[in-house]
Amino acid sequence: MRTSRKKISPFRNKKVFLFLSAMITALFVVVIVAVINIQSNRERKVEAEALYHDKSQPVEERVNDLLSRMTVDEKIGQIALVEKNSLLFSSDIVRFNLGALLSGGGGGPDSNEPEAWKKMITNFQDSANSSRLAIPLLYGVDAVHGNANVLGATIFPHAIGLGASGDEDLVRRVGVITAEEMSATGANWNFSPTVDVVQDSRWGRTYETFGSDTERVSELATAYLEGLQSSAIVTTAKHYLGTGAMVWGTSTNPDFKIDQGEITIDEATLRSVHLPPFVSAIRAGVGSIMVGHATWNGVELVANHELLTDLIKDELGFDGFVVSDWYGIYEIPGSKYHALVTAINAGLDMVMLPYNYRLFTMEMRRAINSGDISMERLDDAVRRILRVKFAAGLFDQEPPSDPSLNEFGSSEHRLVAREAVRKSLVILRDKQQTLPLSKTLSQIVVAGGAADNLGRQSGGWTIEWQGIDGNWILGTTILQGIKNAVSSQTKVDYRQAGDFSPEVESADMGIVVVGETPYAEGWGDNEHPTLSDDDLQAINNVKAISKKIVVIIVSGRPLDISAYVDDWDAVIAAWLPGSEGEGVADVLFGSYPFTGTLPVVWPL
Ligand code: GLC
Repeated sequence: MRTSRKKISPFRNKKVFLFLSAMITALFVVVIVAVINIQSNRERKVEAEALYHDKSQPVEERVNDLLSRMTVDEKIGQIALVEKNSLLFSSDIVRFNLGALLSGGGGGPDSNEPEAWKKMITNFQDSANSSRLAIPLLYGVDAVHGNANVLGATIFPHAIGLGASGDEDLVRRVGVITAEEMSATGANWNFSPTVDVVQDSRWGRTYETFGSDTERVSELATAYLEGLQSSAIVTTAKHYLGTGAMVWGTSTNPDFKIDQGEITIDEATLRSVHLPPFVSAIRAGVGSIMVGHATWNGVELVANHELLTDLIKDELGFDGFVVSDWYGIYEIPGSKYHALVTAINAGLDMVMLPYNYRLFTMEMRRAINSGDISMERLDDAVRRILRVKFAAGLFDQEPPSDPSLNEFGSSEHRLVAREAVRKSLVILRDKQQTLPLSKTLSQIVVAGGAADNLGRQSGGWTIEWQGIDGNWILGTTILQGIKNAVSSQTKVDYRQAGDFSPEVESADMGIVVVGETPYAEGWGDNEHPTLSDDDLQAINNVKAISKKIVVIIVSGRPLDISAYVDDWDAVIAAWLPGSEGEGVADVLFGSYPFTGTLPVVWPL
């Protein structure tokens, strides 16, 4: 009897087939993933035991070993410097093998607290550490007067005030504290010091310099570098070469006048006036040299092989790396590709992109594949960067422990900042020995836009790139310092506009604190830096009701006061003192002597 086989519906066949197919596929995927993991773990195990991880080995051996393990893409990623807000995905750090990130001025985490900075940077480092070779990131910030992007930081006088102090030991200690307050947040690369020798104080970056005396700039830069480098911080001498000599009215930026302008001095002057601070910086072990955003005799500095290779590397023996400034390489005329090839072949080692790392990677691959950039040039650039990372201990650092955050903005740090304020003050006029003032005067009136304004005391590169006007940061204002310095019998009245009458008829002393509102870079270019009408009015109001008047100028550079200076009994240059305004009263009322001297010419 013919047994009828139960007909299995084709549909049921199909279900079984699909199920089996899915199972086989899943099994295949599992096996592949397992193999990849085993492979990458094996690779990582091999890498983890590689010579370059052995801190007992000489730096050059570690550099050679690591370089020999790197793929072209990993080398390309090492020479990119990306602004952290330009990361499309944090996974791009691994995907594009990025070796360096930066926070532009004010580019912090939303809360801007030190803990949040540390968390942000640690997360970036963890991403880099998960890559095949686990090469630590350089994380760069502009901690140009303390780690002043971060809320609560100790904010020192800007460099122009340190230049006025002329005190190398003080500047070294400022560097040490700045490094400590950077390390506490995880930042390991400071785009500082500026070693420009400023020639025209109409330049908005005058306050970022130690002044216009080549020798003083060289000495203070050396001291600052020694201080900064005490805490495994990579340092930067900028802006190479000769940007202090840019010519008014030549800026390539339509919003600026002299910043990003033309340098027209001859080579002899470039070498005698502007090069020595870089020579000192190299001797002090500076890790990087940042190329200025300017042209010398019509050629972009960043395209100049004579400067970026022949001079700084071959002649002076600089073995760190040369980094470009912001979007600077793309100022080189022609296509972006041509600009990139020109800059790298001129001797640039790291490109502050700061935005488009995808395009950069693609164009670098094209340049290497075509031979437009040689592999030895790329290897030389990567070697320099790795050398700096190894030498600074980035591969060997234990994660920064929390206690260092306790030192962040500590009272001990602030005492050093207060000392720096004291030593930065310069007497511009003192008729009939008005200074120092008595602490036991019966009545003092205080006025002026900068008397009670921490933002104006601090200037640019503070919390925000352009600084912040007002009292949004920790610290003590000059007014608070005055009130704290005088006797309990002394009456101190304050009105910003100085409009005290009729309640005040004849104060023993009027103190008017005037000056500039915050600015940075070319936004501070000013053809005639002088006092505002409001400040002049406040001075006149106070003069009318005071037996004597002292004018204190809070500015990033000399202001033209020649028309009025003889009407005032005393005039003091306070520069941009930062968070510890009490340092002004310390000297104003004679607790400490005036010791500062002019770092730049102040025509009176
Ligand atoms: C700026 C400045 C440079 C700074 C860099 C990163 O444009 O020219 O001094 O270090 O970009 O913020």
